[in-house]
Amino acid sequence: QEAHAAEMERTFIAIKPDGVQRGLISEIVSRFERKGFKLVAIKIVIPSKDFAEKHYHDLKERPFFNGLCDFLSSGPVVAMVWEGEGVIKYGRKLIGATDPQKSEPGTIRGDLAVVVGRNIIHGSDGPETAKDEINLWFKPEELVSYTSNAEKWVY
Ligand code: TYD
Repeated sequence: QEAHAAEMERTFIAIKPDGVQRGLISEIVSRFERKGFKLVAIKIVIPSKDFAEKHYHDLKERPFFNGLCDFLSSGPVVAMVWEGEGVIKYGRKLIGATDPQKSEPGTIRGDLAVVVGRNIIHGSDGPETAKDEINLWFKPEELVSYTSNAEKWVY
């Protein structure tokens, strides 16, 4: 069980400044928590523009890159690491499609957002980006390994 827990999949999830300002932190945390995923790191930070550009470096050729980085650095962001079986892919499913107009009802963006530039949440899109984003946002000692009481009922 110990080894299993240590190797459990992790993803980086961030509540963007619009989600924080709209009072959606607990709503979003709650959806991941109730699913059965485990919170192993959380903090609130205002990223610099430079940091936002690092986070979104894959998109630097896109026309919306500058506005996106201005937006991400415009206020507090809740940065989190969630752990669990299949959490990277299923986390994206909980979040919904990039454009909230195309996100299904029942997803975070489908239920809580309207336009692509204000889609309230970020989630890593694969194992490599998850690793990179966790390393960018968190120091290793900020990640907490523990066994939650609920876990033995989730798995
Ligand atoms: P992307 O990584 O493609 O989507 P996702 O957040 O679902 O992984 O894009 C990153 C963010 O860029 C996206 O959440 C919102 C913003 N964005 C725009 O503002 N306009 C666009 O046309 C696209 C594709 C994304």
